[in-house]
Amino acid sequence: MDKVTKEDRINHIQTYNEKYDNKGFNTRAIHYGQPPDPFYGSVNTPIHMTSTFAQTDAADPIYSFDYGRVGNPTREALESVIASLEGGKYGLTAGSGLGCTMVITHTLKSGDHILCVDDIYGGTGRYFRKIAAPVYGMESDYVDMTDLDLVKSSIKENTKMVWLETPTNPLLKCFDIQAISEICKEHDILFVVDNTFMTCYNQKPLELGADIVVNSVTKYLGGHSDVVMGALATNDKELYERLHFNAYSIGPATSPMDCYFVLRSIKTLSVRMEKINSNALTIAEYLQKSDKVGEVYYPMLPTHKYYETHKKQATGGAGVISFVIKDGDAESSRKFLKSLKIFIFAESLGGVESLAECPALMTHASVPKEHREKIGIVDGLVRIAVGMEDAEDLIADIDGALAAL
Ligand SMILES: Cc1ncc(COP(=O)(O)O)c(C=O)c1O
Repeated sequence: MDKVTKEDRINHIQTYNEKYDNKGFNTRAIHYGQPPDPFYGSVNTPIHMTSTFAQTDAADPIYSFDYGRVGNPTREALESVIASLEGGKYGLTAGSGLGCTMVITHTLKSGDHILCVDDIYGGTGRYFRKIAAPVYGMESDYVDMTDLDLVKSSIKENTKMVWLETPTNPLLKCFDIQAISEICKEHDILFVVDNTFMTCYNQKPLELGADIVVNSVTKYLGGHSDVVMGALATNDKELYERLHFNAYSIGPATSPMDCYFVLRSIKTLSVRMEKINSNALTIAEYLQKSDKVGEVYYPMLPTHKYYETHKKQATGGAGVISFVIKDGDAESSRKFLKSLKIFIFAESLGGVESLAECPALMTHASVPKEHREKIGIVDGLVRIAVGMEDAEDLIADIDGALAAL
């Protein structure tokens, strides 16, 4: 058999992808980067369980792959489809969402300043404060980015990266991606948006001016609570090459098996997000009407403080809703959570199953109580991550747990 060259392989994938370049979200989710295997014809992308690849000569791998930390065909398929769905040219995965954070942060250097949204995901803030600051000498500040003048005045000479999440956790605060991207462009600052809470189905930060969009794949993209992974996408070739260099030099590689799970999950992303968007909106509307509930935080409720901003840049609200039990305290939150029968009492979000937690006692317990209360994370605040069960069963479950208080 004639040798199939590196170029043959790349051409085969490129020609295949060109057919899908202008197709819709679902068609790309199912096919992009995933041609049937040309040798065996298998419809699904094979799980290439190998740590190393055969070479024909020294430093001359048969195809583009030489070592599993640097690249793997199953991972390549996943990175292509993620890039395409994000509206980007280049995709990259890492062993967790925080693995991606590290890969991105290592494009900066000692002495650089990072400007972050004030209620950033706790793990990202911990990495910036407890690792990037003391180990790498990078400083960071945390500001309310609803105030664009504050964003501008917080930029320093050494500000090299702005890090945004919208909506945030657990109060679903929303920020104007496009307006912040314009400020970043003016000052030549790398602009990163963590899109974990929305996914590329509901919101596309690259199209709104972000340089990098990053996700904890562990949540909706994985979607079944069985994989821990991170992914990013960008349109900038040079930046991608630096990020890929960082990824294989630092080492948070994704396993071919996990990449296969996520490839499979992404094929149903739109169906899952549609159901989750609709379930969550129905439940948020029910909560608003309940006389046992105070404030309800959900970005697709017209009464939500940041509704207009969210509506401008996103097409759905995804599954996270926070609400305050009226006259509730830590004990009421605990009792409510323990009375739920379908919602699982657990942290995290994004899976097919619904979860519920109390931020003050769990995900945000490390934030000092005074600061928590000042920003609205009171002890009676409950966060639910709505999944794909039937909305009426979930409502009956919440109703029963509220009645038990
Ligand atoms: C918004 C957000 N970003 C990043 C992460 C980190 O992702 P991972 O847990 O996959 O490292 C999380 C995890 O909860 C998250 O909620």
